[in-house]
Amino acid sequence: MITQDSPWHALALQRTAAELAGPLAVTARMQWTTRPGLGPGADILGPDLRGKRLLELGCGSGHNSAHLATGHGASVTGVDLVGLQVRRARSHYGRLNNLTFVTGHALHYLQASAERFDAIYSVFGAVGLIAPEALLPVIAAHLRPGRMLAFSVPHARRCGRSPCADDRPRRAFVALADRTRLPISRCEFDTDRLEKHLRTAGFWLISAQELHNSRLDPWPTTLLIRARKL
Ligand SMILES: C[S@@+](CC[C@H](N)C(=O)[O-])C[C@H]1O[C@@H](n2cnc3c(N)ncnc32)[C@H](O)[C@@H]1O
Repeated sequence: MITQDSPWHALALQRTAAELAGPLAVTARMQWTTRPGLGPGADILGPDLRGKRLLELGCGSGHNSAHLATGHGASVTGVDLVGLQVRRARSHYGRLNNLTFVTGHALHYLQASAERFDAIYSVFGAVGLIAPEALLPVIAAHLRPGRMLAFSVPHARRCGRSPCADDRPRRAFVALADRTRLPISRCEFDTDRLEKHLRTAGFWLISAQELHNSRLDPWPTTLLIRARKL
């Protein structure tokens, strides 16, 4: 298992220092990438999310969870490893109904929960940071058959890189606002390798979208995966 508490804590610290705490307006759209408006919206999680139970793994400051709870009427839990991120999320969106933020490791949260969800998702969050052979079967156990897992990860070929050559994670970085780069491990897999892990865990790959803004990014920057629980 990969744990990387301190780089993520450093990220939360810098973001907390740069932003005002307090209520924020809920975003009008689900964001799967760091480029606002790029890619699909929340519809890839299911056709009608009203009243559905959703879980976000690595929710950060909670913008997408808040959007899904308010804009789509879903009942959302956002989990993040770093307590400071959860404090930020609560200060921005704690006033909203049907929205809960919890501090915890995604894997440990799932292992301790008996709940089954209608969709589980992650936006540059815990999926990709935890070994798939550990995380994906546990996610599958918490999804009803036919329901969706969707996650975006940094594209393995961004900036001219190549995907991991085997099932091991590799060294990557968390980039902070002050330009410091803190090392983490990340599973930067191509779609074929991800599909193999998804199939082994009991998922059917629905789509793998390579996203980038063609004006700003010469490479694909985000891989967005949709998979259905068998
Ligand atoms: C790049 S940020 C993305 C945050 C958010 N999803 C967004 O789009 O703004 C990654 C987040 O994943 C969280 N994280 C990292 N490892 C995790 C783990 N094992 N379990 C839960 N959250 C984790 C970090 O604390 C951080 O808030």
